[in-house]
Amino acid sequence: MYIPNETRYNEIKYNRCGRSGLQLPVISLGLWHNFGGIDNLENSRAMVRRAFDLGITHFDLANNYGPPPGSAEETMGYILRHDLASYRDELIISSKAGYEMWAGPYGDKGSRKYLIASLDQSLRRMGIEYVDIFYHHRPDTETPLEETMGVLDDIVRSGKAIYAGISNYSAEQTQEAERILKSMGRHCVIHQPKYNMFNRWIEDGLLDVLREEGIGCIVFSPLAQGLLTDKYLDGIPANSRAAKPSGFLRREQVTSEVVSKVHRLNDMAKSRGQTLAQMSLAWVLRHKEVTSALIGASTILQIEEAVDAQEKAAFTGEELKKIDDILAGK
Ligand SMILES: NC(=O)c1ccc[n+]([C@@H]2O[C@H](COP(=O)([O-])OP(=O)(O)OC[C@H]3O[C@@H](n4cnc5c(N)ncnc54)[C@H](OP(=O)(O)O)[C@@H]3O)[C@@H](O)[C@H]2O)c1
Repeated sequence: MYIPNETRYNEIKYNRCGRSGLQLPVISLGLWHNFGGIDNLENSRAMVRRAFDLGITHFDLANNYGPPPGSAEETMGYILRHDLASYRDELIISSKAGYEMWAGPYGDKGSRKYLIASLDQSLRRMGIEYVDIFYHHRPDTETPLEETMGVLDDIVRSGKAIYAGISNYSAEQTQEAERILKSMGRHCVIHQPKYNMFNRWIEDGLLDVLREEGIGCIVFSPLAQGLLTDKYLDGIPANSRAAKPSGFLRREQVTSEVVSKVHRLNDMAKSRGQTLAQMSLAWVLRHKEVTSALIGASTILQIEEAVDAQEKAAFTGEELKKIDDILAGK
């Protein structure tokens, strides 16, 4: 029987999610890769348990995570049933809908029909009565935003989700979504954008909107799917995401230009006394608007390494300039 680490709440820092009552661990665990039906269930289970032992209370899912789509939620359901059933009130479980999930016009995008049906499926797969955060996974310019935000509001009112969030919305779309939600007496509690050293789009307006509107921010792929670690310094290892047919990181993305920057970043991380993964996490978390860094993992060690990033979180102005220079190829 699994008995969680009694000191888990001393292991990690919690940040307030925008202007809300919700606090999230500074590192959250996503189940996009390595938790699907094709993966080793006992490894997935061990990672979730270790994460919880380290104070990681937040597990991020979506309807389509797998492969096959839906199977990561089934894995989470299995772990909840076997290990975490009595800890439901200590967990923040999120899910999303917005990408294609089933055939036909009702299994994709942002309609009321799709979002309600998808959340019901997610709850069944995980065997839970509610999710803590339900996100619209990506903007849908064909469905009126009033409809999509209206369904997020209704889902929270129905009790099937506690908080509403959006993902991959631009700064302008976020402002508009929050305006509509506010008119219904609802607040968008969290935004989930991609953010890492190789993809800095949120610095160009989104972070300002999130700060002004009091919306929390959980950034996904902070390690650029593993590129911003020491994993690819000497080629593409067989056990890596880039080598797997089911991985979203493609071999072609591991270019010599990227690897040469990663070498320089890796040297800099060493001189700071941490690993490149840890420096990359500290770097995304340097903004006060960023509530949590949402990592993926294939091993327990990777999760432990991420949590240890807290130990050296601060950067000098000189260090930040050096990172900018490396990224710019200077
Ligand atoms: N909202 C959205 O549209 C969206 C999109 C994508 C992701 N997400 C969410 O964000 C989560 C994280 O995304 P991500 O998996 O791309 O995040 P990531 O943290 O950038 O990449 C995780 C991968 O990096 C490698 N890695 C992690 N720590 C490492 C270490 N210390 N040393 C060497 N390699 C390490 C592992 O790959 P290996 O398998 O190679 O070991 C791991 O699976 C997802 O699970 C999902 O919940 C959301």
